[in-house]
Amino acid sequence: MEAQTYWKDTGSRTRRRVLFAPSLLGADPLCVGAAIDGLGGRYDWLHLDIMDGHFVRNLSFGPAMARALRRRYPDAFIDAHLMVDRLDVLLPLFVDAEVSLITVHAETEPQLLHAALSSIRRSGLRAGVAMGPATGVERVRPVLEIADLVLVMSVTPGFGGQSLIEATLERTRDLVRLRAAEGHRYLIQMDGGINEENVGRVALAGCDVVVTGSAVFQSPDPGAFLESMRVKVKEALDDADIGS
Ligand code: DX5
Ligand code: ZN
Repeated sequence: MEAQTYWKDTGSRTRRRVLFAPSLLGADPLCVGAAIDGLGGRYDWLHLDIMDGHFVRNLSFGPAMARALRRRYPDAFIDAHLMVDRLDVLLPLFVDAEVSLITVHAETEPQLLHAALSSIRRSGLRAGVAMGPATGVERVRPVLEIADLVLVMSVTPGFGGQSLIEATLERTRDLVRLRAAEGHRYLIQMDGGINEENVGRVALAGCDVVVTGSAVFQSPDPGAFLESMRVKVKEALDDADIGS
């Protein structure tokens, strides 16, 4: 499904669709293109983590990677997750790279948050706001009306391969309630430590877009792994329907 049509479809569907966004941080950095091709087209979005060594204690990809992805995958929905300070300098570089969605963290330069999301949307891209595991919903509240997506970090930002912090599922439930109560339209994304064992709970909590890095790329058949994650989600949602 075209990611662009996701937002149009959500209102009319009777059943929530959960999207999968493999995190390229989990791929072998020498073979990212081959890793994407190894997914056999069975992904919905490509999740690109941008780290500046300052906002988080790690470095990852930069705008050259975003531009290269856009060149090689012109139709892909590229989901850029910025874990950076200096949005004034870095944001325009990712807008110019023509990614599809840019998500910025609520904890970085909070006084610029509304302006950052507005400027992303004025550029014709989708705009997301991310919250670290210790950040409360109040922090993102001022931008919820203009957010296309809220990213709930389910691990401490900066590294792949960590374990999901269970308490963050409650944050997702809070955002589902708030969206319904206040008529917002954002999708909810969860990122960090998601695997076959917990993806059902993640979907049941209300997550619309699942990011998964090491679990998918360390699997012997990443495309089949994504399919098995979709089955887990379907089973969990079916069970919930039967129980309700
Ligand atoms: C962490 C990144 C994640 C990471 C997820 O800061 O934002 O996208 O790649 O990787 P796993 O699934 O291994 O936790
Ligand atoms: Zn991420």
